[in-house]
Amino acid sequence: MCYPLATGAYYNSIDLRDRDALKKIFDSTKFDAVIHFAGLKAVGESVEKPLLYYNNNIIGTIILLETMANYGCKKLVFSSSATVYGWPKEVPCTEVFPLCATNPYGRTKLMIEEICRDIHCGDSEWDIILLRYFNPVGAHPSGFIGEDPRGIPNNLMPFVQQVAVGRRPALTVYGNDYSTKDGTGVRDYIHVVDLADGHIAAVEKLFQGGSKTGCQVYNLGTGKGTSVLEMVAAFEKASGKKIPLVMAGRRPGDCETVYASTSKAEKELNWKAKYGIEEMCRDQWNWASKNPWGYGKPDESTNPST
Ligand code: UD1
Repeated sequence: MCYPLATGAYYNSIDLRDRDALKKIFDSTKFDAVIHFAGLKAVGESVEKPLLYYNNNIIGTIILLETMANYGCKKLVFSSSATVYGWPKEVPCTEVFPLCATNPYGRTKLMIEEICRDIHCGDSEWDIILLRYFNPVGAHPSGFIGEDPRGIPNNLMPFVQQVAVGRRPALTVYGNDYSTKDGTGVRDYIHVVDLADGHIAAVEKLFQGGSKTGCQVYNLGTGKGTSVLEMVAAFEKASGKKIPLVMAGRRPGDCETVYASTSKAEKELNWKAKYGIEEMCRDQWNWASKNPWGYGKPDESTNPST
């Protein structure tokens, strides 16, 4: 794929582990800061293929950080995850909670956070913001940009969306015996547009008033917990489609309730999520109904009926 840059130049996408290709990009443009989103993110796959995750996520990040340092670009925003809170003892999760990871994917996020903290300790010229995403859902309101996972979706809302467009017969609900309002898992869903705004706020913070940011971490969530059944009901309302459910046991590694404390981001980034689950489901349905097969056409790898 080709991506336009502010300078008017275009770059093909590259693998961060390709040091020479990365160097070429840094040779041709002077970057003031980098937002690092690149990484593999499927928990189950990371358990089966840990080396793939350590190689891709960790080595890719190290090469990026080394290249940035070589070119004197020492401002970074990194996509971390609420997964680093593990099964939290209490909610809402604040940024000072103890950290742990329960699978290789989560460990890569945690390790990269630690690498960033160490880098800043060793060289105070670095300014780094680690953003801990809660559960990003929804799509761009235009209906042109949305999530299109390959294969069977691992996450709740992409699966719900595929049931709604008829690509899958029913949603399996993993566990209805949790100590929550309706027995199903509770998460902090955040609209992707709010998440994107959180990144802009983070970059602005890195350049604020010439002062040093250091290495800071912020939760990006709404501060509200929503159960699986509440999310399904909101999507049914937005889409007018019935989502058939199959109740099943708990998914290994899942926790009961996770939602964010948002006060640090509100105070220091001047950022607050604007959208609720109604808008998340509305925009996700807009994307899904316009693009029932995502960015591609039905084929044997994505069509369960063939
Ligand atoms: C998951 C990952 C997390 C990762 C995030 C990326 C696990 C254990 N955690 O978060 O590390 O950062 O995705 O977006 O995989 N659910 C169903 N049926 C489904 C899918 C999900 O009932 O088919 C339920 C889950 O049990 C959970 C809720 O929906 O209660 C949200 O699940 P999901 O969207 O996978 O997100 P997390 O598990 O919170």
